[in-house]
Amino acid sequence: MTRYALITGASSGIGLALAEALARRGRSLILVARQRDQLESIAIELTQRFGVEVLFRACDVGEPLRLSGFLLELEEGERQIDLLVNCAGIGTSGPFLAQDWMTEQDLIEVNVLALTRLCHALGNSMALQGGGQILNVASVAAFQPGPWMSTYYASKAYVLHFSEGLREELKSCGIKVSVLCPGPTRTAFFGTAQMDTAKLDRLALMSPEEVALHTVRALAKNKAIIIPGRRNRWLAFSPRLSPRWLTRKIAGAINKAYCPR
Ligand SMILES: NC(=O)c1ccc[n+]([C@@H]2O[C@H](COP(=O)([O-])OP(=O)(O)OC[C@H]3O[C@@H](n4cnc5c(N)ncnc54)[C@H](OP(=O)(O)O)[C@@H]3O)[C@@H](O)[C@H]2O)c1
Repeated sequence: MTRYALITGASSGIGLALAEALARRGRSLILVARQRDQLESIAIELTQRFGVEVLFRACDVGEPLRLSGFLLELEEGERQIDLLVNCAGIGTSGPFLAQDWMTEQDLIEVNVLALTRLCHALGNSMALQGGGQILNVASVAAFQPGPWMSTYYASKAYVLHFSEGLREELKSCGIKVSVLCPGPTRTAFFGTAQMDTAKLDRLALMSPEEVALHTVRALAKNKAIIIPGRRNRWLAFSPRLSPRWLTRKIAGAINKAYCPR
């Protein structure tokens, strides 16, 4: 029976690069995101290049009813999924009180609720199958509070802590859980979060392909927390060295420089 890796957020950026890296290693895939046409052309391309089966499903995972429908389809389709990659995510930036509430709610629905629900549904299927692997995508933002991107940083702190907790809990079911914490990466993320992309372009951002290569190697070794790149490991570690008030001030000053006023 074919086993699939299901990847959310596979239509662009890090999710797409992970899809390609896994297809290159012979994995059959189920790609999920909202942009159907994009998913279709990626599925065709990956199948042609790597000879693997690539299915796709357009779904807004931030819409609980749509996600329920998709999960029901998966259950009825009886496809074995032995790797879940929760990569779909969005960011917002700027003063919290000035944000449109629906955008903040969408962020929590996608980054927190959908990710948790997919872990619950597919974690149960994996437990029945006797095992599997889950990779949740957090960020180096998960290691500290982030004024002017407070909701985003807090959502990633949730993903980090939730994933570490699950890792211990699910060991006995044969399910390995890892969490990926990339640093700034060249993707559409910053544009979606309405950050100053011209300023960000001047930074040496990692490519999504570099992040994906590091990640698939670390996944094979069942690493708990995957942080690609030395600079990003420093970004994740450095908040431990400064008092909390200073960490908040530094993160706030950096975010403010790249956020809309
Ligand atoms: N780029 C960075 O610097 C960076 C750093 C640390 C962590 N991350 C994290 O990495 C993950 C991937 O982001 P990225 O940088 O690759 O940005 P991206 O290129 O904007 O990718 C985001 C992906 O999420 C999907 N998505 C967004 N909302 C969705 C929804 N409601 N339902 C289903 N899919 C949805 C998008 O597809 P559709 O638009 O087709 O739905 C897209 O495939 C995110 O969790 C992000 O927080 C990024």
